[in-house]
Amino acid sequence: MALNKYSSIYTKDDSLPASQAMLIGSGIPEADLRKPFVGICSTGFEGNTCNMHLNGLADAVKMGVQANGMVGLRFNTIGVSDGITNGNAGMRFSLVSRELIADSIEAMAGAHYYDAVATVVGCDKNMPGALIAMARLNRPSLMVYGGTIKGGEYKGQKLNIVSCFEAYGKKLNGAISDEDYRGIIRNACPGPGACGGMYTANTMAAAIETLGMSLPFSSSSTAVSAEKNQEALDTGAYILQLLDKDIKPRDILVREAFENALVMITVLGGSTNAVLHLIAIAHAAGVKLTMEDFQEVSNRVPVLADLKPSGKYLMEDLSALGGVPAVQKTLLEAGLLKGDLMTVTGKTMAENLVDVKPLGEEQDLLRPLSNPIKADGHIQILYGNLATKGAVAKISGKEGLRFEGPAIVFNSEEDLNEGITLGKIQAGQVVVIRYVGPKGGPGMPEMLKPTSAIMGAGLGDKVALITDGRFSGGTHGFVIGHVCPEAYDGGTIALVEDGDWIVLDASTNTMDVQVDEAELALRRSQWQRPKPNVQGGVLLKYIRTVSDASHGCITDLQEEAYVNARETSPSLA
Ligand code: FES
Repeated sequence: MALNKYSSIYTKDDSLPASQAMLIGSGIPEADLRKPFVGICSTGFEGNTCNMHLNGLADAVKMGVQANGMVGLRFNTIGVSDGITNGNAGMRFSLVSRELIADSIEAMAGAHYYDAVATVVGCDKNMPGALIAMARLNRPSLMVYGGTIKGGEYKGQKLNIVSCFEAYGKKLNGAISDEDYRGIIRNACPGPGACGGMYTANTMAAAIETLGMSLPFSSSSTAVSAEKNQEALDTGAYILQLLDKDIKPRDILVREAFENALVMITVLGGSTNAVLHLIAIAHAAGVKLTMEDFQEVSNRVPVLADLKPSGKYLMEDLSALGGVPAVQKTLLEAGLLKGDLMTVTGKTMAENLVDVKPLGEEQDLLRPLSNPIKADGHIQILYGNLATKGAVAKISGKEGLRFEGPAIVFNSEEDLNEGITLGKIQAGQVVVIRYVGPKGGPGMPEMLKPTSAIMGAGLGDKVALITDGRFSGGTHGFVIGHVCPEAYDGGTIALVEDGDWIVLDASTNTMDVQVDEAELALRRSQWQRPKPNVQGGVLLKYIRTVSDASHGCITDLQEEAYVNARETSPSLA
């Protein structure tokens, strides 16, 4: 089979001389025009630790691609730093960036008929964006994760990005000096790499390695390691093999692979953002995945890993113990993963793990199944009059399973941050942050700043927080996000008033405001949708196209046929 079946559309066609002239003019020797073209997309950019080294890794991918007799063509797309934008209005662009990344990779590879795609990605939304594009294109593809950052240190205290937010809470509380506050900021991020706990980037990286779309060890090799550079160099050989065997993303992204990914994120105690992203990736791959699937896995799979945010260790610690493959092997032997699924190595997961040792009793990062951190999953899907279409709770077990109390309501993250600064939050309250959903935010911003400030102020185990926005993977505490329908769409969360009694119960998977139906109906009749928070541009386009959180905040939901058309690439294939 010809390996250049897409690029040959213009490199072989005598009636497309301009296409060939431009390729030759851009430095591709004429003799190479019949080689497979591999699009290599990096989300590298300066000014963010997660992305600062990605263009260098993309160079290494290109070297490997060229060394294997193909033409590597680098291009860039955007990224939005969640660390930098958390706590400010820039965060509105974060989830939007997932769609921009997906759309731009699809557009580049589709327009230029690349035969295969390698993506080099680092920060939270980079990875699902890349996977969505690769699934849409359905051409041989592989993702290279930029890798996790090393931990920082200050005065003997181990640090990571979330330490900064929590230090802010302590500063407000008078618990640390200004000098120590600055010292923590200066030392929290000691070099390249994505945020180091089991936050969203490492969660998605582990999920995607378990889906089979990145090479073994990709998610746990640290950003500055020799292994990470070697992974980038090796990518060319694997791309060639994928082309040769015609293994495409939808051969890998099957329903059982998503079930494996759900098991992995549950065992690792991963980020709630995975709910949005895996539903969106599945949609692009033509696989039906719903919030109920997450609940089903949570009902039967425990949390085993003692990883931050609620645990002790960072991803670099797991890397030192054998990385995600060691966890996979442990779960495979326990019967929790299906091993006979194809991966980008051209082998099944079980074949990839033949020489990998499971994690044993010599370590305490991954508990044995007989002594889990939590007997069931931490991601719980809740329903009730506050969330008729569902909400996502992250319950580590340390906060208890039930919380009830009077509501204190804020109509924006800024209002809540001000409320925290003014000392308005009291123990026992249910903090409601609304109009921060996919449309209301817009962009469903993460509430890391207020949740960390609440933690830092010593209220973490004394209040609960519900929102139609999202939480960072770094958030911990009794928190429920993704409340759907969102306030902007007139969901009941829009009708809650200060002092209303709210009952949240993760054991019965319910969340209700105890206001009788007649009163809620009266409030609903008086409710008016606020004006959108933006007047134009990409965020207004997003408001008009984004689906609700229960559908993964995708922007092409209307294409129902697409979901059922696994044989047909929605792009130019
Ligand atoms: Fe990029 Fe956290 S800001 S992974």
